[in-house]
Amino acid sequence: MSQKWEPSSWRNKPIKQVPEYRDAAALAAAEASLRKFPPLVFAGEARTLKSQLAKVAAGKAFLLQGGDCAESFAEFSADNIRDTFKVMLQMAVVLIYGSNLPVVKVGRMAGQFAKPRSSDTETINGVSLPSYRGDIVNGLEFTPASREPDPGRQVICYNQSAATLNLLRAFAQGGYADLHGVHRWTLDFTAKSNAGAKYAELAERIGEALAFMAACGMDSATTPQIRETEFYTSHEALLLGYEEALTRVDSLTGDWYDCSAHMVWIGDRTRQLDGAHVEFMRGIKNPIGLKAGPSMTEDELLGLIDRLNPANEPGRLTVIARMGSDKVEKFLPPLLRAVEREGRSVVWACDPMHGNTITASTGYKTRPFDRIFSEISSFFAIHRSEGTIAGGVHLELTGKNVTECLGGSRAIAEVNLAERYDSHCDPRLNGEQALEIAFLVAQALKDARGRQFSGVAAE
Ligand code: PEP
Ligand code: CO
Repeated sequence: MSQKWEPSSWRNKPIKQVPEYRDAAALAAAEASLRKFPPLVFAGEARTLKSQLAKVAAGKAFLLQGGDCAESFAEFSADNIRDTFKVMLQMAVVLIYGSNLPVVKVGRMAGQFAKPRSSDTETINGVSLPSYRGDIVNGLEFTPASREPDPGRQVICYNQSAATLNLLRAFAQGGYADLHGVHRWTLDFTAKSNAGAKYAELAERIGEALAFMAACGMDSATTPQIRETEFYTSHEALLLGYEEALTRVDSLTGDWYDCSAHMVWIGDRTRQLDGAHVEFMRGIKNPIGLKAGPSMTEDELLGLIDRLNPANEPGRLTVIARMGSDKVEKFLPPLLRAVEREGRSVVWACDPMHGNTITASTGYKTRPFDRIFSEISSFFAIHRSEGTIAGGVHLELTGKNVTECLGGSRAIAEVNLAERYDSHCDPRLNGEQALEIAFLVAQALKDARGRQFSGVAAE
């Protein structure tokens, strides 16, 4: 393995999922512009997130990572950003209340634009065109012009990410996330649901606790933890030219950080040990994620951990298992045991979305709510029996009232999928389904804490 690393060293490695840009000069120009743009995040924030993830690894906090499968130009609006943020806040409150653990909130937001695809081309009625690879590469519309990779899109995505992050920071720190507003985070369409009613009850209790604390002298004015929250951003670091252009030396430490997001992850299709994506990720100091599907072997995982976290730094690496509800019991335990045996510190998170995608008879890609929850409960049960720590969940969700995943308490059926199917890529939990998942996870965490976390004080 070559020891020397620089932001461009991935260019000498075999690469997968790479778009074919025909205009090399336009690509170079877009990357040159990006290199001059300011970083989107500050390295110090990425370090703070890493230290919080170290707490997750130790069972002293829980990771909630979620957002769109793919952000898009079409769905870019203040309302969508606000509603996803709201549902993440609601879920976090439910989880904190249920588990007494702090929740580390990480959005799949402000940069989640590039998508890996199972095939390079898509064929409809005998016509083959390049597959849609996310708005950062090409357009969803099935025309030759739209499917042509356009480097200028990278600059648009940078700007959209900057605007999204700006609003998220304003919401997180400007008073919107103040716990006194816990009632206001309810999304209109969830208010009358089961989960909505449970949430209203919980919000009531939080309101009472806040009134008590205020009487003791702790309120929004005196206690920033009540007034503000921390919210981090993440995406799959798939389009490496874009990531390289935003990778900067931190002036405080001299280390390289990918300043396109606080956390970035490697997808299940691009995790080859000697491939370009692993090469890029090993050199940046951000906390990083690694997706692990059912084909991940123990040796592969240990090899990747060696390469990506050679110093065994807690919080550096989150392994995001996405096995499928019918496979998790077979494939997760050997990985947990191998990592334990080698004494490696990782955060274990569960992505119950990507192993549970099916095609409905109506042709829509969908995911049954029950399978999503079943994978999460197996994940908790397996960790309980292995004596390891179930650190978090990684979800595709939106605050919008979409009909993309089947089931949930409103029992979305196949015939309903066409009603509001807006995703540019994979099906997302809607705000109500996401909240239901949060209540179920809170219960699982409570049970797990009763056993495996006993004696660990929440901070
Ligand atoms: C994703 O998270 O959107 C994704 C493509 O996941 P995976 O790499 O696990 O398939
Ligand atoms: Co997806």
